[in-house]
Amino acid sequence: ESADKGAFDHYMLKEIYEQPRALAATLALDARHRVADELFGEGAAAVFDKVQAVQIVACGTSFHAGMVARYWLEELAGLPCQVEVASEFRYRKRVQHDNTLLVTISQSGETADTLAALRDAAPGDFLASLVIANVDNSSLVRESDLVFLTRAGVEIGVASTKAFTTQLVALLMLTIALGRRRGLSEDRATDLVNALQRLPEYVQETLELDRDIEDLSEAFIAKHHALFLGRGIQYPIAMEGALKLKEISYIHAEAYPAGELKHGPLALVDNNMPVVAVAPGDDLLEKLKSNLEEVRSRGGELFVFADRQAGFASEPRVRVLNMPHCPEVVKPIVYTVALQLLSYHVAVQKGTDVDKPRNLAKSVTVE
Ligand code: G6P
Repeated sequence: ESADKGAFDHYMLKEIYEQPRALAATLALDARHRVADELFGEGAAAVFDKVQAVQIVACGTSFHAGMVARYWLEELAGLPCQVEVASEFRYRKRVQHDNTLLVTISQSGETADTLAALRDAAPGDFLASLVIANVDNSSLVRESDLVFLTRAGVEIGVASTKAFTTQLVALLMLTIALGRRRGLSEDRATDLVNALQRLPEYVQETLELDRDIEDLSEAFIAKHHALFLGRGIQYPIAMEGALKLKEISYIHAEAYPAGELKHGPLALVDNNMPVVAVAPGDDLLEKLKSNLEEVRSRGGELFVFADRQAGFASEPRVRVLNMPHCPEVVKPIVYTVALQLLSYHVAVQKGTDVDKPRNLAKSVTVE
């Protein structure tokens, strides 16, 4: 078994490092460097022509991918999008827009609640179903109308890493395919594809920050709680960062949209509560800066992951990790990689079973 890990101590670390290759493999473009509808299966073009809304259903880390996709689908494709965890979605009475595409997201393609959500969807509720899965021939793949297979390769670590980032590539490709029909210009689509093509480079640059992230991780080992803040599309990335830390290091971590800090969690901030901020250099940065000030003035220690061109500098009680400068649209993917490494190093130093965290299963096939 250890031979499969190559030079790595854990599958999780190996899988984190496989991301540049997995992301490039998932970005399958046609000869004209475009996202072809057929990538989503036979008949995708006819379905995509009719889509007026998107309902995303998933569990765990895959749910976070759906939450990121909502920002893309609404902003770039102008499509109303709802995202819900499968175990909630399936047990409530819903009101559905006409011509809604049901999108399930699942690494394994076997998660019981996600599969049940697909199976329970009443005929006529949805225009069609599309699954984004990493395992060919899995139940969700067999039972969905349309399929996009991510090319992450086998993922062994229970905490999902490369499956998540490849799901995000798939979801941005879906956004481009749907957006083209809804006012996304060819120039903008080309920009998005170019950003995706350079994504493996930005992820590689992030992997090169591994030692710096390992240094930061030491501040978390003795803590029992941590707070993750993000704004906009980085809020779900903060959620994913918090989930990773919980899963493998057993540190209680919560994610908040940065603006909600003053509505509750600020009461918890002191020198025992590290606060991680995912703060790319976008138009919301200034507001996030004032939130960060609130944390610092209460004795909290801040860990800011920020674009190296954003003008954030380390100072007492604020440690900044300078992230590669890259297009806004791929930042959720690039920042995820840094947070994966942070959790990994905290867990290793705490001596937990990184690849098989207690009580968790890779694939949850019971309800
Ligand atoms: C389990 C795994 C998670 C995963 C979730 C959904 O909880 O431990 O890593 O995100 O299931 O799995 P899926 O295969 O549907 O993506």
